[in-house]
Amino acid sequence: MATVLYPGSFDPLHLGHIDVIEQSVALFGNVIVGVMHNPGKPSGMFSLEERIEMIIASISYLPSVKVVGFEGLAVDAVKQVKAAFIVKGLRTGGDFEVEQQMAHTNHAVSGVRTVYLPCKPALVSISSRFIREIAQYGGDVTSLVPAPVASKLAKLFPPSSDKSRVRPAKRQK
Ligand code: PNS
Repeated sequence: MATVLYPGSFDPLHLGHIDVIEQSVALFGNVIVGVMHNPGKPSGMFSLEERIEMIIASISYLPSVKVVGFEGLAVDAVKQVKAAFIVKGLRTGGDFEVEQQMAHTNHAVSGVRTVYLPCKPALVSISSRFIREIAQYGGDVTSLVPAPVASKLAKLFPPSSDKSRVRPAKRQK
């Protein structure tokens, strides 16, 4: 039994993230979901507090999971919570490239190791970016996110019918 840190921006949490959390619980025992800022994604949709609230509401059936917000480096968060290592989910080859670079860098500067978990094949196309985009236009994301996230998004962006979602763009002269 180990304690592991699963860091991410979770803006918002989706079913692919839930899969990684469930796999981590089954494999390692105690999981700390570290809600962090990704400097490469400066324009977030939800505040850190809102993201934490949605995750807590979505994983209440998993008692060995804690949700904590961190500012700063993931490797410092690992040390602060005395986690054994970092866990990351991999969807595609593109994810692997980015994660491999981060894992090597994190290890080089701190000695903290990263373990990758492959996402369920059915969930590999889900991304927070596309969820934000679809929800903002009033589209239906209920098949991609847990219920608490779906209801938060529906409040923020009330669902609209197909016809009212798309309109001709103004012609530019
Ligand atoms: O869900 P994301 O956006 O892919 O998560 C990326 C995240 C937040 C885990 C990453 O940006 C991160 O670790 N941020 C904290 C700052 C840090 O440790 N940077 C060093 C990277 S080598």
